[in-house]
Amino acid sequence: MRATVGIIGGGPAGLLLARLLHRAGVDCVVLESRARQYVERRQRAGMLEQGTVDALREAGAADRLDTEGLVHHGIELRFDRERHHLDFPVLTGGRTVTIYAQTEIVKDLVALQLADGPPLLFEAAALAVEKPLSGSPVVRFLHEGREQTLSCDWVVGCDGSHGVARDAFPAAAGRTYTHDYPYSWLGVLAEVPPSCEELIYARHERGFALHSMRSPRISRLYLQVPNGTRLLEWPDDRIWDELAARFAVDADWTLRPGPIISKSVTPMRSLVHEPMRHGRLLLAGDAAHIVPPTGAKGLNLAVSDVRLLGGAFAELRATGSTRLLDGYSDLCLRRVWQATRFSDDMTRMLHAQPDGDAFDHRMQLARLRRITASRHAAAELAANYTGLPLPL
Ligand code: FAD
Ligand code: DHB
Repeated sequence: MRATVGIIGGGPAGLLLARLLHRAGVDCVVLESRARQYVERRQRAGMLEQGTVDALREAGAADRLDTEGLVHHGIELRFDRERHHLDFPVLTGGRTVTIYAQTEIVKDLVALQLADGPPLLFEAAALAVEKPLSGSPVVRFLHEGREQTLSCDWVVGCDGSHGVARDAFPAAAGRTYTHDYPYSWLGVLAEVPPSCEELIYARHERGFALHSMRSPRISRLYLQVPNGTRLLEWPDDRIWDELAARFAVDADWTLRPGPIISKSVTPMRSLVHEPMRHGRLLLAGDAAHIVPPTGAKGLNLAVSDVRLLGGAFAELRATGSTRLLDGYSDLCLRRVWQATRFSDDMTRMLHAQPDGDAFDHRMQLARLRRITASRHAAAELAANYTGLPLPL
């Protein structure tokens, strides 16, 4: 099998890149290790920056997003039993965010690709990328019970945090920076209308809680839990009681419980691999970087990477120039480190430190008070949350 660009991974990064390349007239093949149903049901992110919405529109993949996406004008911070609203349009000169589930983005992109796009092979697991420094790298993959090869001009690893593309970088050709946080998130999807109009980020002595949503009928909620937490420790009643305790305020507000339809535990970590290119192998999305989810940057970073890559391959096809591909890694990494910093700041400000002392606790409150008291501090949070401009 042959393609100008071989894409490993059919998550949001790989699928959107395939769409952008298709529209630019660059042929590609996408290899996805999992089945279509699995990829379309995997519960993950849901908050889209304006730039992500724009990228999906430019790719012609936003018809349903434009009708079903929920535009949000701010978030609520809760601490010390108080609620504080941050008004994004006022703080940022008009920016908003949109709630639309990652599962739906994936469904929309898969449907487009299968209708008129380049080949998308499900249950096709890449085993290795070979000869990345040559003019024609090769992806070895397993499909329909036999090993096959995909010869390419370029390979893009969009295969997430456990993929194989990063393994093709020799140790001397890069460096991976990591940080593990001493807590995880228990995420639940519940068949109940959200108890809020905006997302709520709550800091509580018992730990962080986040109230998000997927639609006017489905709520998405997260609880900080210790690392190593097992789902059987958290029956549904315990989850609702804990959420209610962490969101409690002096004002008149109650959390509406309902049937929980999915539960998972995700460890919190930061990872950045530098550089994001080795010869003719490029990385995009979680394959290159992972951020802790507080602040919802993971999916948005993946989209911003492939937006740059789409432009770079379009320029290569139109002019023969690799100028944008040559600048890709440096340009992406500037944004990646800013998102990593913001996610880290939000994480540390809002989570209870397992070994934290009274001083740490007071520092968190002082940070939150500064944001709610100072327009400059609030505007800084809002600018990062709604998405920094590209390029930085
Ligand atoms: P992925 O979505 O991981 O896609 C990678 C794809 O590659 C997958 O489909 C995988 O099956 C495939 N693949 C892997 N290995 C191979 C191989 N060898 N061959 C072929 N295919 C392969 N972000 C937020 O902003 N908010 C959240 O609440 C949030 N929750 C998350 C929960 C979990 C459990 C995880 C893992 C991530 C979460 N994220 C969240 C992060 C966000 O979902 C990711 O940043 C986003 O999915 C990145 O997209 P991607 O396409 O780069 O990677
Ligand atoms: C969601 C997840 C996040 O990490 C976040 O900060 C906001 C929203 C979500 O899944 O809806």
